[in-house]
Amino acid sequence: MKVGILQFKPVRGEVETNLRNIRKYLIRRKFDLAVLPELATTGYNFQTRNDLFGLAENRRGLSFEFFEEITARVGGAIVWGLAEKSGNKLYNSAVLTTPEGDHHIYRKTHLFFREKLLFDPGNTGFKVFSWRGIRIGLMICFDWIFPEAARTLALKKAQLICHPSNLVMHYCQDAMITRSLENGLFCVTANRVGTEKIPDLSLTFTGRSQITEPKGDRILSFSRTEQAFKVVKIDPELSDTKNVNRHNSLFADRRVEFYLL
Ligand code: ACM
Repeated sequence: MKVGILQFKPVRGEVETNLRNIRKYLIRRKFDLAVLPELATTGYNFQTRNDLFGLAENRRGLSFEFFEEITARVGGAIVWGLAEKSGNKLYNSAVLTTPEGDHHIYRKTHLFFREKLLFDPGNTGFKVFSWRGIRIGLMICFDWIFPEAARTLALKKAQLICHPSNLVMHYCQDAMITRSLENGLFCVTANRVGTEKIPDLSLTFTGRSQITEPKGDRILSFSRTEQAFKVVKIDPELSDTKNVNRHNSLFADRRVEFYLL
């Protein structure tokens, strides 16, 4: 299976520009699954909920139509981050769009910093979607600091965690090595680059997107600033054994009775 990450610099507020850029990176490439950053269609650092609400989309939105068209055309699935509106709710969401025309949505559980002023907390819980026999889990950016997120997806039998991100701290990329290792699965962290400013806050995103494999090695990595779409071949079935050695299993050895409070 060929998995790719698009690390780029979305332009805040310019959905059509961002979709045009995404098309340029992906259109002539071969992949089974591509992962894009969090809020890839809108940008990240907004002053008010209203500023962002105007750009937010539901399933009838432009971006859904765009990803439906491009996945059908290239024959691979895409995980992309957007501001999702549902009635008067606003979610920081990730969508798995498949070439068959399905959209599977995850809404960010753990909101980071000023996101709490902009978004409603996600209400989907952690979900694993089966596509062409591959089990794909979704989480978004700051979910990384709660090990329960990746653990829940692993216990739900995810082989691969897609992790759209807009990281501003530098800890996550190393932490995701542990998320892969302790759960015995692939983690695909798609981060963005660039800086976005509002009057009282300037955020610089840390790039260094990566894929970590079930033993914790990085098998794909980006620099802090590069903009590119890179692809690597993986075998998702490597996530199916949870054995550490002949005597230890990540899951069978759990002593759940001692984890209760
Ligand atoms: C983050 O959750 N965007 C840091």
